[in-house]
Amino acid sequence: MPMLSLPTQPQADRLQPSPPSPTALYLGLQNAPEPSLPAARAFLQEQLNKAAKLTCDLPDSPEQLGQWVIAGNTRTTQAYREYLDTRKQGQPRRYFANRAHALFFLRGVAPTKLVDGSWLYGVLPQWQDLRLHTLVRTYLEELGEGEPEQNHVVLYKQLLAQHELEDIESLSAAHFVQGAQQLALGHLATDFLPELIGYNLGYEQLPLHLLITTYELNELGIDPYYFQLHVTIDNADTGHAHKAARAVLDNLPVTGDAQEFYQRVRRGYQLNELGLSSTGVINSFNLEQELHRVLEQKALVARNMHSDFCRIEGRTINEWLSQTGQIGDFLAALEKRGWIHRDEDPAQSRFWQLVQGNRAPMFGVFSAYELQLLHDWIAGEWLINDQPNRPRRFIPPNRNQQDHRARAGDFSAEQQLLEQELRTLDDNSRTQRLIELMSPAHHYKPAGLLATRLFARLQA
Ligand SMILES: [Fe+2]
Ligand SMILES: [Fe+2]
Repeated sequence: MPMLSLPTQPQADRLQPSPPSPTALYLGLQNAPEPSLPAARAFLQEQLNKAAKLTCDLPDSPEQLGQWVIAGNTRTTQAYREYLDTRKQGQPRRYFANRAHALFFLRGVAPTKLVDGSWLYGVLPQWQDLRLHTLVRTYLEELGEGEPEQNHVVLYKQLLAQHELEDIESLSAAHFVQGAQQLALGHLATDFLPELIGYNLGYEQLPLHLLITTYELNELGIDPYYFQLHVTIDNADTGHAHKAARAVLDNLPVTGDAQEFYQRVRRGYQLNELGLSSTGVINSFNLEQELHRVLEQKALVARNMHSDFCRIEGRTINEWLSQTGQIGDFLAALEKRGWIHRDEDPAQSRFWQLVQGNRAPMFGVFSAYELQLLHDWIAGEWLINDQPNRPRRFIPPNRNQQDHRARAGDFSAEQQLLEQELRTLDDNSRTQRLIELMSPAHHYKPAGLLATRLFARLQA
């Protein structure tokens, strides 16, 4: 009885006293979107109210957007030129002091990158509406049209896995704001379409930090492909930046209030300014603090795992690790007793020899990221003085390793089941099923990738 179910929505909204934390909302929308929708609505409304107070650099009229995109792009590329000139003159990296700093950044922006494109999900059911064509196209491109080696979320997941950075749930709430907004927009497109279009306009412009990040990651021997891809795919001529401006014009109401529509676009655009930005994450890095954080965490499982044979400054390792807040003193004691020689090649430190290398007694205790933090902390000045400050050529890993077509047996069971299921459905239900699987929570998995490839064929 649809008439009876109508009043439940606003009531559900009223029952929601205040929005949950961005982290809880983010995880909720990824795990079970339906029950999280009232909270997502309240959250989005609150974020839009915050955004409305910020200054907006969009042109007064939507007709000027095309020019505005080009002008912004020119400014960014000029600033990048200047950056490159300073580097050529021997200036140090602007963003990443060392490799650990760069990995810290990759982890810090992960909540946003792992839902890349998600704000556009809600336009899929309207895929036949010509006004939304560019947005549907952009979503499909974020998903790599179902090819894992081009799916932005798959690529980012690979990057995190490569450096063992997958543990992101302990990041602060501010780290989850952008991702929570994106998911909320994606799941509430029916009620926030102009805001979604505005958010997309802001997100898809080429930012200076993307260019610098790409350059400096490469320099540090970290695969910059994910970032490089966004420099090209979001380009201002034919790429997402251009398409984003096009989408505003395509959706301007002819009969309704175009001014009111554009006002809502502007507010959605300003959502890009909230939460922790990429440069905010970069600036929040403190090597020692981050090293202490991961070692404190490790101490929780390492307590009582050491023999009492070895004492440092009169205390056993177990005693050092028994209480939180002692890591700083413990490291200082290790330094004092000659286990660690700061500002030298870490290979010279006994402590480093214990943790690094296949035959090291503590091999496997620390993740790649944790080792990098420890390494760069020990190395300190030695890194600056001893390492040549010139770009290194990065050899990308073989991206075809995960070729979905090579799967068989149980590894492809899901896809086979999906193909069987789709054969039993009529055209409408079939499309609906594909769209379900293309959600931000599923599109990067084998079934979601297959669904995306099948859906992309409908578009062709
Ligand atoms: Fe993307
Ligand atoms: Fe994009």
